[in-house]
Amino acid sequence: MNALQLSNAEFRALAARITDIAAEFLAGIEQMRAFPKVSGAQLARAFSAPLPEEGLRERSLDALAEVLALSRAPTPRFFGYVLGSGEPVAALADLLASILNQNVTAWRSAPAAVSIEQQVVRALASALGCGGFGGSLCGGGSMANLMGLAMARESRLPANEAGARPGIVYASEQVHMSIPKAMALLGLGRENLHSIGVDAAYRLDTQALRAAIAADRSAGRVPLAVVASSGTVNTGAVDPLADIATVCAEQQLWLHIDGAYGALAALAIPEKFAGLARADSLSLDPHKWLYQPLDCGLLLYRDADAARRAFAFSGDYARSLATDPLESFAFFEESLELSRRFRALKVWLSLRYHGLAAFRHAIRADLRHARTLAQLIVSTPALQLLAPVDLSAVCFRYRHGAGDDLDRLNAAILRRVIERGRVYLSNATLRGAFALRACFVNHRTTEGDVEEIVSEVLAAARETLRG
Ligand SMILES: Cc1ncc(COP(=O)(O)O)c(C=O)c1O
Repeated sequence: MNALQLSNAEFRALAARITDIAAEFLAGIEQMRAFPKVSGAQLARAFSAPLPEEGLRERSLDALAEVLALSRAPTPRFFGYVLGSGEPVAALADLLASILNQNVTAWRSAPAAVSIEQQVVRALASALGCGGFGGSLCGGGSMANLMGLAMARESRLPANEAGARPGIVYASEQVHMSIPKAMALLGLGRENLHSIGVDAAYRLDTQALRAAIAADRSAGRVPLAVVASSGTVNTGAVDPLADIATVCAEQQLWLHIDGAYGALAALAIPEKFAGLARADSLSLDPHKWLYQPLDCGLLLYRDADAARRAFAFSGDYARSLATDPLESFAFFEESLELSRRFRALKVWLSLRYHGLAAFRHAIRADLRHARTLAQLIVSTPALQLLAPVDLSAVCFRYRHGAGDDLDRLNAAILRRVIERGRVYLSNATLRGAFALRACFVNHRTTEGDVEEIVSEVLAAARETLRG
């Protein structure tokens, strides 16, 4: 027998033990610290043992307790960044996806998985009001944004054969860092991403967009695309999508919407996302506001031919011999990825298990939590709300008795909040000011957890000011 072969009895025993570990972890999650009490040096030591030449067999699992203890647990009080909470039915599906080990690159290598992914893509697109859009799952919003902009470039200034020519892409100054990164990787250059100002609510200013396009055209530059955000990473601002779509139509520019953070909230509050369906391409992140375990991004597009123009380039060995249109389908012709894991299984199973209504409900709860926190901040004199709350991100700061250096004080308060371990917040910079930031994309959070944000920040501020 090959040394890597496992008997069925061994597999059952290992799987049972791992399920027990996972179940125990989930049972204790409400009381866990939001960040482990551990230093970088401690952690580097904890996992520094050399990997064994001879296998440890089931004793290898003993180390998992330490992995769990030193990890940042997905507690109900984690509000940092834009990080979904990891829905457990989807996690179980991930185990099965790995056992099946499908390469979801083409129908011929993964027939059921390809059909399920197509079904998930269609279902999510139509639930968001984008019926008829195609697309594919990918590693996350950054990957989806890169692919969306690759499609934009190939559709307006084709570069796949002869190389990139300069074209201008427009986005608000609040755009996520993955967009300038994509500009660089696509050979368009970060300098050709023209930054457009925002209004008081951090939404792209459409008049300024029109003016920038006109100025570029009269200077002989070639406008190419606009990236609108439906939920900026800092404050959750939703750009005026319909107005931007109108500008793009008039100017014949590609419209990419970065909905990695916010677009899935259209399941719950579609009225806020009018214009979403006018995008040429749209990024979504089920691993954010659909609570799916990492990784799971999604790029939707209106025109599959545009995706093929950007991505189809097959070696002969990948050429399908099938003539049936379903059986000759290949995701690799519409995506940057070739080998692809069965990400759709988790989304499919978790949506089937809970139903779409449960997800709409969870998203509404997150939106409510954000409003509750904003109200608590407004009614607490020591705190100041720094931006309107459009979706579920709340930016604020401590301002009481602080002298002048509020930025330094709030950075120190944030460090203290994280050390205390009860809640986890991250930060943002808004018009030059350091902000504490709580973002709700967490199906485990309760009203009580929201209240703890305020009490923890006040306690951390008292401790910080005491020195
Ligand atoms: C608006 C926005 N776009 C893109 C991304 C990148 O997504 P990912 O981290 O999945 O690559 C994020 C991540 O927070 C985001 O908030």
